[in-house]
Amino acid sequence: MQFQLSEEQLMIQQAARDFAQTELKPGVIERDEHQKFPTEQVKKLGELGFLGMMVPEKYNGSGLDAVSYVLVMEELSKVDASASVVVSVNNSLVCYGLESFGSEYQKEKYLKPLAAGQQIGAFCLSEPEAGSDATSQQTTAEDMGDYYLLNGTKNWITNGGTASTYLVIAQTNRALKHRGINAFIVEKGMEGFTIGPKENKMGIRGSDTHSLMFNDVKVPKENRIGEDGFGFKFAMKTLEGGRIGIAAQALGIAAGAYELALEYSKQRKSFGKAISDHQAIAFKLADMATQIEAARMLVYKAAWLKDQGQSYTLAGSMAKLYASKVAMDVTIEAVQIHGGYGFVKEYHVERMMRDAKITQIYEGTSEIQSLVISREILR
Ligand code: CAA
Repeated sequence: MQFQLSEEQLMIQQAARDFAQTELKPGVIERDEHQKFPTEQVKKLGELGFLGMMVPEKYNGSGLDAVSYVLVMEELSKVDASASVVVSVNNSLVCYGLESFGSEYQKEKYLKPLAAGQQIGAFCLSEPEAGSDATSQQTTAEDMGDYYLLNGTKNWITNGGTASTYLVIAQTNRALKHRGINAFIVEKGMEGFTIGPKENKMGIRGSDTHSLMFNDVKVPKENRIGEDGFGFKFAMKTLEGGRIGIAAQALGIAAGAYELALEYSKQRKSFGKAISDHQAIAFKLADMATQIEAARMLVYKAAWLKDQGQSYTLAGSMAKLYASKVAMDVTIEAVQIHGGYGFVKEYHVERMMRDAKITQIYEGTSEIQSLVISREILR
């Protein structure tokens, strides 16, 4: 067993750390406050190759491993979870989905610009009435011969306004239940496709979340991903990898808040000494550091299993379940350690506490992760 990162992985980690400090940190409070999408920063992330990290070079990706990907997610999320969710969705849901299951035509036309960071993608599964219960899709895709007619509404779609390419899950044959579901590539600007207003969110406010409406959108047959009826499996397989990315995001949020709390506790004095010298604070820091390290092991292991070509269903769900709880617990403690300063925006930790919450909700709630884990261990 090896607990050592390779030279290349360390280099990538450092590049992401530098980027987070120099490009993401300035302006992160303002972007959160005004719900401003990090347009310039995302462009630069694309130029660095961070938007198509695991895609082979022949499709304009960086050809890196999943461990490098989680290292980048962790470092970016320490500073700006709104920017890191763009990286996560583009890499693990959109690029991975197209690269693993798309046709050659789809890879040439859609994957290449997405992996190069010239375009952004969105993954559209959730609906007003179908979140955790993902098989009960109400969006329909009627087979019209050489095209499908898409009708329905998708909710809470990350990158909903900024994306150019949307992977949309829809029901083609209700009688077949989940085996009648398909996944389609929909382009922004297709007739009948409209984007609803931006959601006003508690956290990750710099990210761009919208509902999407499809009204008789004609989707060419060659834009269906995989065989007829493959859409639900496509969504599940893709989300498995996505959960590792979100687990890494949660880990990063926790680690970022912990680092700020540690630093603050050494500087802030009370009762004649640094607050870190009070056992009440020192023990909090000890618990936070231990929880973060445990989460890190789960996240890295899940990514490593993916790199080895082994099953990561269980490991990915465990990593997401645990890391997202750690993100919540640690950010609450980080605010507590900062006292009154923790409650104001300049000190960053209140934002991190708000950002942490979504990691227990999107790409499968904590309850869904427990369901997946229990099914795996009881199988
Ligand atoms: N890999 C491959 N196939 C899988 C699978 C997996 N991991 N999990 C399930 N399947 C297959 C099953 O084998 C079954 O197929 P067959 O009948 O052909 O064998 C089919 O899918 C249905 O499986 P289940 O009977 O287990 O289905 P279920 O109704 O009990 O639901 C679930 C399973 C795990 C709860 C699933 O519905 C689920 O993951 N729900 C959560 C959805 C989710 O994560 N949404 C996130 C939205 S995306 C998002 O947040 C993105 C963003 O913008 C940030």
